[in-house]
Amino acid sequence: MEEKYLEAKRTLQEYNQEHLLNFYENLTEEKKEELLREILSIDFKQLENLYKGINSTKITSGQKIEPIEYVDEAKLTEEQKQNYVQKGKEVLKSGKYAVITMAGGQGTRLGHNGPKGTFKLGINPDKSLFEILCDKLKKLQIEYNVITPWYIMTSKENNNDTVKFFEENNYFGYPKEAVKFFKQGEIPMIDKNGKILLTEEGLIKEAADGHGGIFEAMFKNNVVEDLKTKNIEWIFIGPIDNPLVQMTDELMIGYSVSEGVLATGKSIVKANPKEKVGVFCKRDGRPSVVEYTEISEEMAEETDENGELKFGESHINCNLFNIKAIEKIGNDKLPYHTAFKKATYIDTEGNTIKPTEPNCYKFESFIFDAFEKIDRMGILRGSRENEFAPVKNAEGVDSPETARELYKKYYNI
Ligand code: UD1
Repeated sequence: MEEKYLEAKRTLQEYNQEHLLNFYENLTEEKKEELLREILSIDFKQLENLYKGINSTKITSGQKIEPIEYVDEAKLTEEQKQNYVQKGKEVLKSGKYAVITMAGGQGTRLGHNGPKGTFKLGINPDKSLFEILCDKLKKLQIEYNVITPWYIMTSKENNNDTVKFFEENNYFGYPKEAVKFFKQGEIPMIDKNGKILLTEEGLIKEAADGHGGIFEAMFKNNVVEDLKTKNIEWIFIGPIDNPLVQMTDELMIGYSVSEGVLATGKSIVKANPKEKVGVFCKRDGRPSVVEYTEISEEMAEETDENGELKFGESHINCNLFNIKAIEKIGNDKLPYHTAFKKATYIDTEGNTIKPTEPNCYKFESFIFDAFEKIDRMGILRGSRENEFAPVKNAEGVDSPETARELYKKYYNI
C-alpha cells in the first residue's frame, strides 16, 4: 500500500492534482485502498488534453456536414413493406436477434430518485419503464415462441439498484437467464481549473462516460463474445427513456437484411428547428449525427426546395446493428464531448460545495460517433406517433405527462 501511495503521489505531482490526497489520512483503510486504486487507474494525460480542448472550436468546425439520404417508411409500397416485414419476422423467429437497452444515464432532468428505468409512467396498470420495455420482449415470446436476449447497460452509480429492481420484480415474468447487466465506464469530473473533483466521501468524483462508452463496455464485459456464442446477427440498441421504443421492429430488421446494410438508424421528422434532438447527417461523407447542442442556428433552420428542414432526420437513439458492424466499431474510445454541469464535491480545504449553477465539466462520448466507422448504414424514417414518447424532463415538453398521452394514443387506451 505504501508503494501504491508513493506511486499515486508521484503521478499526482506530475499532473498538478496533489489535492486528491489531501484527506487521505481521514479515510478508513478500505477507502484508502479504493482511492489509490482509483487514482492509479485515471488516464491523466487524456484528462489534461480534454481540459485543454474545452474552449477550442466546436467539433463541427472544418468538417463538411451535409444532409443524408434516407428511406421514408411512409413512401414504401405495400409490397415492399410486406417483404421487409416478412424478412424481419424470420430474423426474430430465428433467435438471431438481441436487444440492448442503454440505462446508464442519471436522469437528472427527470428528478427521479433512482435508475430512470424504475420510473413509473402512471399508466394503468402502473408500470416502470423497464417493465414497459420488457412487455415488448414478452410479446415476441408469445408470438414466436422465442426468448430474445436482453442486455441492460447500467453504470457504477445505478447498477446495484437496477439489478435489485429486477430481482424484486421477478424480472417482470421474463426468463431471468435471458437478462444480462453490464456496466459502462466512468470518467472523473473536473472543475473550471482542470482539477479533478472529490466526492464528499473523499473518493474520486466520477460520472458515466456517455452512451458512446457502450462498445468498449460490450467488449470489456464479454457481451460481444456472448452474442457471438449465441449466434446473434442483429442487435437493437435503444434508450430506456422512450416507452414507445420499437425494439423489435420487423420492418427495420427486414429493410436492413434486404438492403444489405450493416446498421440502420431510425429517424423521425424533427418537430421544429429548436427541438432538442440530434439529426442524422453526412460528416465528411460518412454517416453521423449533429447533436442539438452542437448544431448552429443557421444550419438548424435551413430548408430544402419542399420547405422541409435540410437537417430534419432526428436521431432518436434507436439503432440496429449487425454483429459485424459492432466488431468493426471495436473497443476504441470514441471522442468526448464536454458538458458543463452541477456537481456537489469537496474543495481543497474540505468544504462541501453544493452548487446552484453549473460548476464543473463532465465528459461524455456519444454512440453516434461510431457510425462513421460503418461502411453501409441506412437511415429509415419512421413516424413520430409510432416511435417517440421521450421521458426527459419532470414537467413540460418531453415529460411523463406528454409521454403518457402519446403512449395512450398509440395503444388506444
Ligand atoms: C439523446 C440524444 C439525441 C436524441 C435524443 C432523443 C445523445 C447524446 N443525444 O439526447 O441525439 O435526439 O436523445 O431523445 O444521446 N445513457 C446511458 N449512459 C450515459 C448517458 C446516457 O446509458 O452515460 C442513456 C440514457 O439512460 C438514455 C439515453 O442514453 O436511455 C439517452 O441519453 P440522454 O443523455 O438522456 O440524451 P439526450 O440529451 O436526451
